[in-house]
Amino acid sequence: MKILTLGAAGFIGSHLTDRLLKERHTVTAVDLYSEKVAEYLNHENMTFIQQDIRSPDWDLDRAVEDADLVIDLIAYANPGLYLRIPLEVFRLNFIENLKIAEACVRHGKRLIQFSTCEVYGRTAASLKNARVADPEDPIHATFSEDTSEYILGPVSKHRWIYSSAKQLLERVLHAYGIEQGFNYTIIRPFNFIGPKIDFLPTDNKDGIPRVFSYFMDALFNGTQMKLVNGGVNRRCYTYIDDAIGCSYRIVENRDGVCDRQIFNVGSPYNEISIRQMAETMREIYAQKYHDNGTRLPDIVSVTGDEFYGEGYDDSDRRIPDITKARTLLRWEPVWSVRDTIEATMQAHVDEYRKREAVTIAAHG
Ligand code: UGA
Repeated sequence: MKILTLGAAGFIGSHLTDRLLKERHTVTAVDLYSEKVAEYLNHENMTFIQQDIRSPDWDLDRAVEDADLVIDLIAYANPGLYLRIPLEVFRLNFIENLKIAEACVRHGKRLIQFSTCEVYGRTAASLKNARVADPEDPIHATFSEDTSEYILGPVSKHRWIYSSAKQLLERVLHAYGIEQGFNYTIIRPFNFIGPKIDFLPTDNKDGIPRVFSYFMDALFNGTQMKLVNGGVNRRCYTYIDDAIGCSYRIVENRDGVCDRQIFNVGSPYNEISIRQMAETMREIYAQKYHDNGTRLPDIVSVTGDEFYGEGYDDSDRRIPDITKARTLLRWEPVWSVRDTIEATMQAHVDEYRKREAVTIAAHG
C-alpha cells in the first residue's frame, strides 16, 4: 500500500514507520522533525516531508489523494501541555485533525486515527460517595471501547480539554461513518513506552515529557523523583513492540474486521502505580547503571498544582479491556511490566550515553 503517515517521526510513529517499511509498504512520512526516523530517510520506499501541517503551504488534499491509507498520529499528548497551552492542544488535536479526517472523507480514503485511553477519564469508583463493594476490583477500572461511560472533571480542570478534543474527534469520525459510510479505525493507546519515547525534560523537542522521562532525568542527575499526589494513580504500561504488533494488524485490516471500529491497545496485565514505578526504576538503576560516586534520588510527593500548575486533574486507573483486539485481531500482548520498564530504561541509558559522548567529543 501507499501509506501517508502524519506524525511519523514521533515515538509511536517512528516504530510504526519501521514496521511499515519492513512489510514493504511505500510510506510518505510527514513530521516537524526527522530525528526519530533518521535511519530511514534514504530508504527507497520512504519519502519524508518536513512539514508543519498547520502551515498554509501544506497541500493536505494532494497528499491524501495520493495515498491508499492515511494514518494520523499528530497530537500534543503530554499532560504538561494540556495545562500550559490548552487552546493549542484543542486546535491541533481537534481542528487540525478534523481537516485530515475530512480530506479522507472527500477522497474516500481509509483513516487510522490514533486517539487516547484518556477519553475514558476517571473510574466511577474514584468519585466522591461512590458505592462500590470492592473498589480495588480491577473490574471498576477496566474500560471497553463500545460500552464504558466517560467521566471527566469540570471545565476549571482544563487538563480534560485534551480528552474532550479527542473524544469529539472520535464522535465526528463515527458520525461520518454513519452518515457517509466513511471508513475509519480508532486506536486508543494505553501508555506505550519503549525506545525513542520522549527524552529528558531538558531536551524540549517533545515539549514536556511523560513520567518515565522525568524519572530517568532524576536518576541521571541525582535529583528528586517527584510523585504527583503521592503517586497513587495507576497505569498499564505497554511495550512498544506489543503495541506495534497490534497496530500493524489494524493496518492490515484482514477481511475488513477493523472497519469503523475502535480498539483499545494496551496490556491489562501491566498495571502499576506511579509510586511502584518510581521504586522499580530506582531499584533497576541502582542494580544496573548506578556509579557509586553519585547519589540515588529521593522519592518525594508533590501536589498536582505544584507540579503542573492550576487546572490539573488526573485519571486514577485505566485498564484496557482487549477482548475486541483478541477476538478480531487475534492479538495478545506478551511483555511483562518489569521487562517493559527494563528495556525502556536500557534504551534511554544508551541514548543518554551516546549524547554525552557527542557532547564530550564536541567540547573536548
Ligand atoms: C498521557 C496522555 O495524556 C495520554 O493521552 C496518553 O495516552 C498517555 O500519556 C500515554 O503515554 O499513553 P498520562 O499517563 O497521564 O497520560 O501521562 P504521564 O505524564 O506519564 O503521567 C502519568 C502519571 O504520573 C500521572 O498521574 C502524573 O501525575 C504522574 N507524574 C508525572 C508523576 O507522578 N511525576 C512526574 O514527574 C510526572
